[in-house]
Amino acid sequence: MNIINLNLGDRSYPIHIASGLLDQISSILSEKNRGQKWIIISQYRLMELFGFDLMGRLKSSGFTTDFITVPIGEAAKSINEFSRIISQMIEMNCDRSTSILALGGGVVGDVAGFAASTFMRGVDYYQIPTTLLAMVDSAIGGKTGINIAEGKNLVGAIYQPKAVFVDPTLLKSLPKEEVISGLGEIIKYGAIKDKEFFNEISNSLENIESFPFEKIIYRACEIKADIVTLDEREGSIRRILNFGHTIGHALEAHFGYGKLRHGEAVSYGMICAGWISNQLGHLSDNDYQRLKKTIEKLPLPMLNNFDQNKILPFVKNDKKTVSGKLNFVILDTLGSAITTKDVSDELILNSLKVIQ
Ligand SMILES: NC(=O)c1ccc[n+]([C@@H]2O[C@H](COP(=O)([O-])OP(=O)(O)OC[C@H]3O[C@@H](n4cnc5c(N)ncnc54)[C@H](O)[C@@H]3O)[C@@H](O)[C@H]2O)c1
Ligand SMILES: [Zn+2]
Repeated sequence: MNIINLNLGDRSYPIHIASGLLDQISSILSEKNRGQKWIIISQYRLMELFGFDLMGRLKSSGFTTDFITVPIGEAAKSINEFSRIISQMIEMNCDRSTSILALGGGVVGDVAGFAASTFMRGVDYYQIPTTLLAMVDSAIGGKTGINIAEGKNLVGAIYQPKAVFVDPTLLKSLPKEEVISGLGEIIKYGAIKDKEFFNEISNSLENIESFPFEKIIYRACEIKADIVTLDEREGSIRRILNFGHTIGHALEAHFGYGKLRHGEAVSYGMICAGWISNQLGHLSDNDYQRLKKTIEKLPLPMLNNFDQNKILPFVKNDKKTVSGKLNFVILDTLGSAITTKDVSDELILNSLKVIQ
């Protein structure tokens, strides 16, 4: 088993990564079991796939367990669902000693983590990510939250889990499009932080069927953990994780969250941001082409002819705007990202032509 330690003083925690890890969680957690209630928060489909097995193992190791399910999709990240989770926990006689296990993708992780951060002013929780995106991104770093009518993730907390358990074998049942979406975020880690890793991902994408998930997930988690350690609350360097996201979020909002998955939108967003980096005299022609060709190895959904002018307002709405100015992440070289406020509307509009 591989363990990465995310170092944040007394909020530090291990990220365990191993194939078959799900079966070992009960023994790893047994030293944390002081007779409290352990609540698995998940989706019913995921309970059937993995959750009931996990519960069985926990029970036979002496844990007191129960489970709460939330709906599929962003609907789970709502005030209503959040409040339902809290009410169910009260009904289940949960108290301050209760521990939560968030078993699912980013949706489950975000709402379960937020419930953990607020229930009785905060209880322990553990992330057990089941999507590729959650394994390399949302389960690590403590960002939790829900959506409101005015926008996504506008209510939340930074609240770190006590451990993260990544078992790449859970990806076997994950729909292919969800895997592709996660691969987009993985390309991002190479592009912003590690050229050698970028090359390794690019070569591995030649044959997605035999993609070395465990090894690649490990390095991606290491990069995310390093960045969070340096800047937990996104005051500076953590911002580079938003590479591809300013235009990505705008594409996601324009095409509808159902049509274009997050990582797919970010993949297109990275091509645009790469093109802008090149225009601003940073990323070399060669590196830009290498970035674009690598992203194009992913079978992304085609973007039908769209009107760039309709995307721009969404770009400007992005919450990464500080005092009205966009804080845009660009690449200096492959493997090194910087932020700039010098990205004009015209550059953004022209970059969108590249992905049409
Ligand atoms: N907290 C953060 O730092 C952070 C970072 C990035 C994204 N997010 C959030 O993450 C969410 C997206 O997460 P996601 O992409 O994981 O989507 P998701 O959680 O909606 O999961 C995608 C789909 O796959 C299903 N699924 C999950 N694991 C499965 C498995 N192993 N086998 C079969 N089906 C499985 C789910 O039921 C769901 O239908 C968004 O709400 C986004 O805002 C949060
Ligand atoms: Zn993302």
